[in-house]
Amino acid sequence: MLDKNNLESAQCANDDCFAADPIRVGLLGAGTVGSQTARLIVEENAELSARIGAPLELAAVACLHPEEVDAPWISKDLLSADAGAICKREDIDVIVELIGGLEPAHTFVKTALECGKSVVTANKALLAKFGPELYECAQKNGVDLSFEASVAGAIPILRPLRESLVGDKITQIFGIVNGTTNYILDEMTVRGLDFDSALRAAQEKGYAEADPTGDVEGFDAANKAAILATLAFQMPISIDDVSVEGISAITAEDIAAASAQNRVIKLLAAVASDTRVAVSASVYPALVSKEHPLASVHGSFNAVFVKAQAADDLMFYGRGAGGAPTASAVVGDIVGAARNIARGCNDASVPMYNAKSLASTRSIRADFVVRCNMEDTSLALCGEVMDVFEEHGVNAERLPMLCQTQYDGEGDCPACGIGGPGDLRVLVKDCTEADLSAILADLQKVGAVCAKPLALRIIE
Ligand code: HSE
Repeated sequence: MLDKNNLESAQCANDDCFAADPIRVGLLGAGTVGSQTARLIVEENAELSARIGAPLELAAVACLHPEEVDAPWISKDLLSADAGAICKREDIDVIVELIGGLEPAHTFVKTALECGKSVVTANKALLAKFGPELYECAQKNGVDLSFEASVAGAIPILRPLRESLVGDKITQIFGIVNGTTNYILDEMTVRGLDFDSALRAAQEKGYAEADPTGDVEGFDAANKAAILATLAFQMPISIDDVSVEGISAITAEDIAAASAQNRVIKLLAAVASDTRVAVSASVYPALVSKEHPLASVHGSFNAVFVKAQAADDLMFYGRGAGGAPTASAVVGDIVGAARNIARGCNDASVPMYNAKSLASTRSIRADFVVRCNMEDTSLALCGEVMDVFEEHGVNAERLPMLCQTQYDGEGDCPACGIGGPGDLRVLVKDCTEADLSAILADLQKVGAVCAKPLALRIIE
């Protein structure tokens, strides 16, 4: 219970705050983010209550193993393993779901909303799958569903999309929304590591998990792309609508070649509405010009670059993961929900009025660099590769080759484009994805192309 004496440090504390009924929070999950959320609620309680205008109280904490919780700021008598019961408790106003995954999180969140409680969640998988259904459920029950921490951790990006930019028209978003892959690509760029060594470095730092598939193959970013696209375009876009490509095929040579073209490789969550009738959501590794603001996002940091019709370019930058940074966003949402409860109102929901359709990404035009790993880069064999582009009638230009340090000295140096194994890179302009996939399929039929070709989009 809030102790008025503890409020002396709160500069803006006022007596009305104590007269008000407490806003009681039920926390589901006491892991990295959950325990930091509890810490902020308890340690910063005086300030938070003063900002809400009512006492904020941590009323219950549920987790799988209450006896193992190592967070001295959580009173033992608040702990239980019964999350389902907390969602229905009449004395609880706000449920904070930090257990992750689809079930039982979906059931808990829905139950809490139907019981008239506001919900705060950081669960990207849940929102990317069931977001529209849950936004509607919150609206129907006159409560808030807030989820700032689900995309790009501490960075305020969802509230700006829902509120600050609601008077504008978003045309495009490029997000570096996965810290693990940004760390890996940055290590490859800055320290010249190959993919496997950079992945090991990410695992040693605790960014990448023992099974890194969700991060490196782009699925984590795809969840975030679905949420961003839904908020940007006010239409239901689920994880199943996002086309996904990860970074496991990126080599040290790709990074070096990008650098030679004044570009860096970044994994982007890209959402766009470029035709006025259709929108798209994708995750792919892209060649980003070193002049672009996203090129300067290093290490495990995240950033979201937004293009809006009137506001023009905006960029949001910060920490995308970690206990305390993510808890900052969660507690911001708790304060928002608590303020609304104290005033007897709730946020506007996410309106799903947009009648645009989802574009087939196959019709989207872009510039690409195609990399073909060749057994032999002699002029004749490179010519066979270039013939494929010509047959498809696309604008293609062979890029200068990098000197291959592993070249064994037989024949002429491939840096001169004559002989020896190496990568042939081709710049393709204004090409649809459909044409590009047909080209990639035909390239695999060329005898001298010895691995699956890779296409990277260019972002200027
Ligand atoms: N695995 C995620 C990342 C954690 O690397 O960014 C935050 O969602």
